[in-house]
Amino acid sequence: MAEDLSIITGSKEEQYEGLMPQIKGLLHGEQDFVANMANVAAALKEQFGWLWVGFYLVKNGELVLGPFQGPVACTRIRKGRGVCGTSWAEARTLIVPDVEQFPGHIACSSLSRSEIVVPLMRNGEVIGVLDADSADLDTFDAADQAYLEQIVALVVEGSAI
Ligand code: SME
Repeated sequence: MAEDLSIITGSKEEQYEGLMPQIKGLLHGEQDFVANMANVAAALKEQFGWLWVGFYLVKNGELVLGPFQGPVACTRIRKGRGVCGTSWAEARTLIVPDVEQFPGHIACSSLSRSEIVVPLMRNGEVIGVLDADSADLDTFDAADQAYLEQIVALVVEGSAI
């Protein structure tokens, strides 16, 4: 496994296309769920420079903070609360172009302006979410959704959970 991430320049799609094989390389041969989430959060943060990116995991009926990169964050989120808890409740990806327009958004950081939350699915159930926050409005779109859904699927499939 390469120890350094190669940062890709170009369009968003080109950046993800360059990142995907590197993420596969990071996950290859490693089944530890926490280790894999940690490296994926680091790779996404390094490549895209988002304000915050990381995982929350379903534990005893709530989302609990997992591996992440960025400022300190809320540790627990209830089902149906905020963007993360809504993504969990609805078992679907949510793209929020302006967090101030999302009723119930949980502001872990006042600097966050837009957000995407992607559920981690295993055997048809949500076991956690990947959350990415940007300091800019309208950062995330269908391309982020498509690639991030692939990335979380690789993490779930490649880890012993
Ligand atoms: N904004 C999220 C909470 C998590 S933090 O942004 C890291 C939400 O509304 O669920």
